[in-house]
Amino acid sequence: MDKDKGKKVVTLAYGCQMSERDAETLTQITRQEGYTSSDDLLNADLVIINTCCVRESAENKILGKIGELKKLKEKNPNLKIAISGCMVQQPGALERLQKRAPHIDIWAGTHNLHDFSALLHQAEQGAKVAEVWQEPKMPLESTPQAEKGKLQANVNIMYGCNNFCSYCIVPHVRGRERSRKPEEIIQEITDLVSSGCREVTLLGQNVNSYGKEFSPVYDFADLLHDVDQIPNLLRIRFITSHPKDLSDKLIETVAGGNKLCEHFHLPIQSGSNFILERMNRKYTREYYLSRVNKIHEILPKASLTTDIIVGFPGESEIDFEQTLEIMNMIHYSHAFTFMYSKRSGTLAAEMEDQISLDVKKRRLQRLMSVQNVKSLAWREEMIGKTYEILVEGPSRTNPERLVGRTRGNELVVFKGPSEFVGSLVNIRITEAGTWTLVGNIEE
Ligand code: 5AD
Ligand code: SF4
Repeated sequence: MDKDKGKKVVTLAYGCQMSERDAETLTQITRQEGYTSSDDLLNADLVIINTCCVRESAENKILGKIGELKKLKEKNPNLKIAISGCMVQQPGALERLQKRAPHIDIWAGTHNLHDFSALLHQAEQGAKVAEVWQEPKMPLESTPQAEKGKLQANVNIMYGCNNFCSYCIVPHVRGRERSRKPEEIIQEITDLVSSGCREVTLLGQNVNSYGKEFSPVYDFADLLHDVDQIPNLLRIRFITSHPKDLSDKLIETVAGGNKLCEHFHLPIQSGSNFILERMNRKYTREYYLSRVNKIHEILPKASLTTDIIVGFPGESEIDFEQTLEIMNMIHYSHAFTFMYSKRSGTLAAEMEDQISLDVKKRRLQRLMSVQNVKSLAWREEMIGKTYEILVEGPSRTNPERLVGRTRGNELVVFKGPSEFVGSLVNIRITEAGTWTLVGNIEE
């Protein structure tokens, strides 16, 4: 039977790269069902929101969007709306959400995304459907591969998380760690490269524990080494590295590679040992610092980014000062800073000494002002030096200019011919802002 070719789907992703990758999977499934992608909500036949529940602020934003879509559906009763991902997967969330938003046609959890076409068929027939598996039951390789034909692709190397940091909902909504087989990952990347991809980001909640279940031993460093051999690929990135599992072998592999970008996203979360212990992070500030020193010893040009939470239950002024102290000691090129958000079902949500919103706000402001100065100083240091840039395309804010990234993931804007898109060029930095750099092509 002919699929209805005229149907349009708008997909919105909230949260991390994993959520974006899942949203891409959903879009690919709808394409197989005859939909074409669009960003025009007003003329959509299907809207998919892939959700995040890592902080309450993300959830509030999504709930606002779901409310907006109700009005859209009143204007266009044929519109189908699907809500998927982490927020739906939280224990007890589905019933609450269904009550709150009866206008939604499809609810799907994180573990049954691959089965989305079946839900879509039912919704197209007018049914309201919800499916949230408690456990991942599908084989890992049944997920559609990353979208072909793009310069940059995100590739899942593993799913889930075993760490149970006490603040974090992720292990509760994404299940235990499962690693994809190296040959499947390498095949996917090889196929992507044949379709024009030049940069891949290997995704996992904790890539450093990739392959723990494999025998004979094959770990993340081995995977990086093998992905580095794929011809015509120009760059390899990876996120996220848990500091407790960052091995010397991994740092040395990055140093010995050709395409492996020397950028580590190494979330510290707090600079206080007392708080790190309560967070169940399984390292001390001293251990973290020793890992940073090791990175700098082997890779003096490496760039580091981090995540930090302020206002974790029980965080005193002294604990917070210790976080500020660490921020001043380590030269992060960028830090993602968050106020602690209580997530029901996690251990920290039950802790008694919760911090008031006022204190959290004040601490976040102080932390951000320290880091903004440091980030700017980091970029100003780059002025006058030359960096290898992978050219991504025209700048969004100024289409006359091109934009690309350094190996350290800094955005650089410069003038150049459009033929450069997709290749590596050397750019000498001339100006630095807190977020972007400006430069000239080195002749
Ligand atoms: N509150 C605030 N920030 C959180 N993160 C994870 N859970 C919470 C929470 N409950 C932050 C951590 C993590 C990043 C992805 O989100 O810093 O590294
Ligand atoms: Fe990503 Fe975690 Fe948010 Fe899920 S809850 S989308 S894993 S950040």
